[in-house]
Amino acid sequence: MNKYAGALDFSAKNVIITGGLSGAGKEISKVFIESGANVILTYNHSSDAASWFRENYPGHDIKFFRLDQSDLGSIEEFAAWLGSLDVKVDCLVNNAGIYPAKDIDDIEPDDYDAMMDTNTRGLFFLVKAIRHLLAEGSSVINISSINATNPARKLAHYGISKAAVEMMTRSQAQAYGPEVRVNCIAPGLIFKQGQEEFIPGWTESYKERSPLHKLVLAEEIGKTCLFLASDLSSAITGQTITVDCGIQLAPCFYNELE
Ligand SMILES: NC(=O)c1ccc[n+]([C@@H]2O[C@H](COP(=O)([O-])OP(=O)(O)OC[C@H]3O[C@@H](n4cnc5c(N)ncnc54)[C@H](OP(=O)(O)O)[C@@H]3O)[C@@H](O)[C@H]2O)c1
Repeated sequence: MNKYAGALDFSAKNVIITGGLSGAGKEISKVFIESGANVILTYNHSSDAASWFRENYPGHDIKFFRLDQSDLGSIEEFAAWLGSLDVKVDCLVNNAGIYPAKDIDDIEPDDYDAMMDTNTRGLFFLVKAIRHLLAEGSSVINISSINATNPARKLAHYGISKAAVEMMTRSQAQAYGPEVRVNCIAPGLIFKQGQEEFIPGWTESYKERSPLHKLVLAEEIGKTCLFLASDLSSAITGQTITVDCGIQLAPCFYNELE
């Protein structure tokens, strides 16, 4: 008998994925749906993608809600709607986020505020707003980035916003245990069709330098979410798990010493 065979069966579990209709969030949503979960997927602009989920997962319990997480009023509306469903939430994946690149010398207060409002303030107040709806034994998963610990000239405000998410994770984990575990995932570069057009050279360089010689697949972020949402990670809280194919192990200049 395999004692742990059912550990990743999310049947009858209620899982929220923010930004769950597009980008990496869509793959995270698929992973949870295919593990049996009832999902609540929020979107900001990608409402059209709801039909893709309805067509591909007929008979599954999938709910959709428009949430602009940079807007505190929208967060309150979402919390009220969620409360009206009369369900307890077993997992919240805080995936939605923005990362418009801008040189550190060109970042204006509005750029900085937009980044913080969406990536940091939104997560904080979303968790606060739905805290009472989180089930005992539930799991919150915040999505950060390896930019939280690795500065990049054109992503300074992004890195700052994600560093705050990692600290937020520790604060929430401390405050909301033992009922709720809160963890964070810091992805490296996630593979996307056509991304080479936006950042020429990056994908090849990433593959070459990372020990696994590949980019991260969004599904791999989803699988890490499954682990953190499951009882397999029952003693883990307040942690950030890096999922980057080992890119941060790329040889630094010390390796060039004779
Ligand atoms: N891609 C990477 O290589 C990478 C690496 C490290 C970390 N990450 C992180 O992974 C997460 C997903 O990234 P991604 O690459 O999938 O990004 P993406 O393709 O640009 O998608 C962003 C997602 O966030 C949602 N969103 C944006 N602004 C929002 C707002 N104000 N309110 C609510 N939802 C909003 C979008 O929803 P709509 O489409 O409905 O507007 C979309 O689902 C982000 O937190 C990002 O920082 C990504």
